[in-house]
Amino acid sequence: MFRSCPIARLGIIGGGQLARMMIPAATQLGCEVVILDPTPDSPAGQVASAQIVGHFDDADSLRALAERCDLTTFDIETIATEPLLQLAEAGHIIRPAPELLALIQDKLHQKQRLLDAGIATADFIALDEPDAESMLAFGLPLVQKARRGGYDGRGVAVFTDAVIEDRVLPVPSLLERYVDFRCELAVMVARSTLGEIRSYPVVEMVFDDRANVLDLLLAPARIDAGLAARAQQLAEQTVTALDGVGMFGVELFLTRDGQLLVNEVAPRTHNSGHWTIEACRTSQFEQHLRAILGLPLGDVTQHSPAVMLNLLGEADADGDVVIDGLDEALALPGVAVHLYGKQTVRPYRKMGHVTITAAELDIALGIAGQVRAALKIGGSSPATTTAKINELNHGTEPS
Ligand SMILES: Nc1ncnc2c1ncn2[C@@H]1O[C@H](COP(=O)(O)OP(=O)(O)OP(=O)(O)O)[C@@H](O)[C@H]1O
Ligand SMILES: [Mg+2]
Repeated sequence: MFRSCPIARLGIIGGGQLARMMIPAATQLGCEVVILDPTPDSPAGQVASAQIVGHFDDADSLRALAERCDLTTFDIETIATEPLLQLAEAGHIIRPAPELLALIQDKLHQKQRLLDAGIATADFIALDEPDAESMLAFGLPLVQKARRGGYDGRGVAVFTDAVIEDRVLPVPSLLERYVDFRCELAVMVARSTLGEIRSYPVVEMVFDDRANVLDLLLAPARIDAGLAARAQQLAEQTVTALDGVGMFGVELFLTRDGQLLVNEVAPRTHNSGHWTIEACRTSQFEQHLRAILGLPLGDVTQHSPAVMLNLLGEADADGDVVIDGLDEALALPGVAVHLYGKQTVRPYRKMGHVTITAAELDIALGIAGQVRAALKIGGSSPATTTAKINELNHGTEPS
């Protein structure tokens, strides 16, 4: 099928870190990459063949990308699906399918699909106009989730022993039973156009409560082999039920009584799959390309225990980026630092991540602690930033 070079011109809607990390894999496989993103010089736009500057809800920009490429994918979920459905109708190849993206964008429809497929998930009801009374009637503790537009925990409110009126999200929502979980797990699953399916080892996620962003990830999860096998099976069943093509991040709860429940599904490469770059035979990014291009899926064997931590902007960070402790972090063994090329920092913004591989998970955890203490992403006035960039470049760049 692929006999010329580039083997495919790949369009990616969204120029964030996920697209940025997909580009080396795409280049290796002989693909050319064009990015669509509203921010000029986006993290992925900096390293792609080209970037179209345009919004994810702008039909003309989406068409321009699809027409320029053989195959279009995305690294973000907040895309207008109507233009994508029309492009698919007109014969453009978009993977995962726009219908599935539309389904997943609505948390209520997503949960209903899981329920219909017999996938274990927390009980829920739909609530168009949330108010304290209906929430109390459903019963506490509960979790309110906005049907649309939430990410990194925004659009999620937990009510444990009281409904505090001004915390109620005033948007169409679903109410979910609060799950008293032992831990949160994730499984990255690839499913190809040929129906081939493979899942990576189960990982354990630890969240930063202040920012609601994944803080630390352990691969493999510290659970027994039987449970891990069940989690992988459940995640594969979930992606099959969605008829998904590409990489999917399946987030799971492990309850205190040993039950596995699917929390939600991301139809793309995922923060909890970054560790695969250093610790698996095939990274999630290469796997996504193999899946959507209809190539054989790669070997998902993990060859090293790994810990991943996100590099978030400091709580008071603002303005231009100031990186502290990069030399110290890089001097530690098994440390791979990924910086996303974002020009400005905000409190808790995802600026990069670090994967630590070691012979044992505990060793990697110890080194992760040292990285966490050393490496900080702050902000500063432009003058200090220029000085910092010069320092990083060992004074070789003109100031
Ligand atoms: N039913 C639940 N019971 C207990 N905690 C929950 C429940 N649902 C969600 N949470 C907590 O809230 C977090 C965010 O929820 P969820 O993953 O559904 O939202 P999100 O905004 O899509 O998040 P992200 O973009 O970070 O994946 C979960 O990781 C979990 O810690
Ligand atoms: Mg989530």
